[in-house]
Amino acid sequence: MLTQEMTQEINVETAVQPIEAADLYAKLLAGADLAILDVRNGEDFARWKVEGRKDLTIVNVPYFAFIEDEDASLAQVPQAEELVVVCAKEGSSQYIAELLAERGVKASYLAEGIVSWGNLYDVRNVVDADWGRIVQVTRPARGDVSFLVISDGEAAVIDPLRHTEQYMQVLQDNNALLTHAFDTHGHADHISGGPALAQRTGARYFLHPYDAIHPLDMLPARLDYVPLQDGDQFVVGRVDVDVIWFPGHTLGQVNFRVSAPDGSHYLFTGDGLFLSSFGRPDLGGRGEAWTPILFESLFERLPQRIDDATWILPSHFSTLDEADVGGRFAQTYGTLKQQNDGLRPRSREEFTGWVLANLPHFPPEYVEIKRVNAGLVIPNEEEAGELELGKNICALSGA
Ligand SMILES: [Fe+2]
Repeated sequence: MLTQEMTQEINVETAVQPIEAADLYAKLLAGADLAILDVRNGEDFARWKVEGRKDLTIVNVPYFAFIEDEDASLAQVPQAEELVVVCAKEGSSQYIAELLAERGVKASYLAEGIVSWGNLYDVRNVVDADWGRIVQVTRPARGDVSFLVISDGEAAVIDPLRHTEQYMQVLQDNNALLTHAFDTHGHADHISGGPALAQRTGARYFLHPYDAIHPLDMLPARLDYVPLQDGDQFVVGRVDVDVIWFPGHTLGQVNFRVSAPDGSHYLFTGDGLFLSSFGRPDLGGRGEAWTPILFESLFERLPQRIDDATWILPSHFSTLDEADVGGRFAQTYGTLKQQNDGLRPRSREEFTGWVLANLPHFPPEYVEIKRVNAGLVIPNEEEAGELELGKNICALSGA
């Protein structure tokens, strides 16, 4: 219960300032000495929260706990050079930040709450060369990463996310025309922006036909798409794009290899190979059958098609530790063979047993998202937002 004294105190003008989600992300990437106090209820906190590098301190003390027992709540407030208070929409975190300021604890609060974190997109160049650019578009709250390859006024987008404005802006900034909208596979964790972008720009939308069938419903997609197959080749400006079939996460998963005129190679792996793991093989409901297929993709197909200097650019990250200091989620294949435990040589049997023992929880909404991405269900904005709540769970846990 608020006492009159407390009410008067929170009405006092204080120096408490909001922090924008983009600024918070920059600090998290930089590994700043920062702690987060999340004042939502425990259930909402457990569903999803702001995540940073592994050593980020984040503590959940619900708003009502401060009201019920202020001293006990204050004792749980983490110590750091900078403290950011987070709530659902801003109101309670501002209140708590002001209360902390009154008690001598300096804190800011996340502007527009966790909603603004969920909607944050980060756009940055991964490669800026004379032949063109690779632009990375990340949705940090979900661990989703997508890319545009731009060369000579043409562009291809790979695994675009649902909010297409981000990509339209990049195209406009680079004076480029979208020619190819590629999905590496039929996604389960997020709604693809590929068909919508194709419609907005006149580009063609590409997908492997194996992923144009819902794996659980066994219904064919209602999509306007161009089928991909292993070995397909495309030209975007001055770069060549070729398709490498990489089944396992899904049967229709493909990688796109971009070869630039300066001899550099970039492999967009989607949910095939990640920087610290690889895509789980069970989201189609057939983990036991698909794990040996994934083994062949990882250890037989891939080494035959790329060299160690090829840059790997996946469509998900698990933690911000996978980003370099410039916020890029990319690493060479040679380095990944040393660092990614998923690429450690194992026999087929050992690999299969290890994968099947480490499959994470299967989010039930993934079945419905696959329906959306197959054009079988069309959600409204609110339903789409609900389906996409929280962090992706596409990687094998423990890998
Ligand atoms: Fe996926």
